Amino acid sequence: MRPILEFSAVTRAYGPRLALDDVHLALEPGELAFLVGPSGAGKTTLLKLINREIRPTAGEVWVDGIAAHTLKTSRVSELRRHVGVVFQDFKLLPRLTAKENVALALQVGDLRISDEEASERAMDALEAVGLGDRGGAFPQQLSGGQQQRVAVARAVVGQPRLLIADEPTGNLDLETSWQMMDLFADIATFGTAVLIATHNVEIVTRLQRRVMTLVQGRLVRDQPAGRIGRMAWLASS
Ligand SMILES: Nc1ncnc2c1ncn2[C@@H]1O[C@H](COP(=O)(O)OP(=O)(O)OP(=O)(O)O)[C@@H](O)[C@H]1O
Ligand SMILES: [Mg+2]
Repeated sequence: MRPILEFSAVTRAYGPRLALDDVHLALEPGELAFLVGPSGAGKTTLLKLINREIRPTAGEVWVDGIAAHTLKTSRVSELRRHVGVVFQDFKLLPRLTAKENVALALQVGDLRISDEEASERAMDALEAVGLGDRGGAFPQQLSGGQQQRVAVARAVVGQPRLLIADEPTGNLDLETSWQMMDLFADIATFGTAVLIATHNVEIVTRLQRRVMTLVQGRLVRDQPAGRIGRMAWLASS
């Protein structure tokens, strides 16, 4: 099976500082992995390389067969069709309803999609995240957990091969965080690879999925699912 995501000798500098240092990794279809490490370790930098918000200083980033490391700005939208993104602070548009937020993402990704089709697919995506009855609500009328579900619906409505999430539960309470993780696990079950940057030690240890650990820009550990030991050190980071 060809990996959905592949980093080969990836280095990213900000001035003299190396935010990522010679990172190699691969993620298979349907695989769910956590990306952990202390603050400043390079997690967000790694995720930004995947959707080509930034480019590596050296090395190669392959996303579903697309060379993100050399991709021209004019072709970034092609890559974004393969990658769904979820942020800590949801980033929903406040003047649009839940359904409109999701539908807009679809139409930005593909201008040929009609309003009617976008609307229908947005409702399907909202139903899949358990919000089929809240499509008409504006973000401020929804709880944090519900807003994050809308953001997940927005990220997956285009059926991306890869979903990346940067601290998706950072603003949620523990119970809501667990529900969010169940949702990510369901998404992976359908074949989408899922990569989640998080500080949530309890969730990471209990779920026993693959864990990649960054420290000062280096991938120092890559633990397979089912073999996740204590990570007490993370709690203080
Ligand atoms: N735009 C930037 N300009 C300069 N330095 C940056 C920039 N973005 C990140 N850095 C630096 O790169 C390193 C990695 O930052 P990054 O945001 O990837 O860490 P992180 O693991 O996501 O941390 P956190 O857990 O706090 O979100 C840090 O030293 C940070 O200061
Ligand atoms: Mg970060």
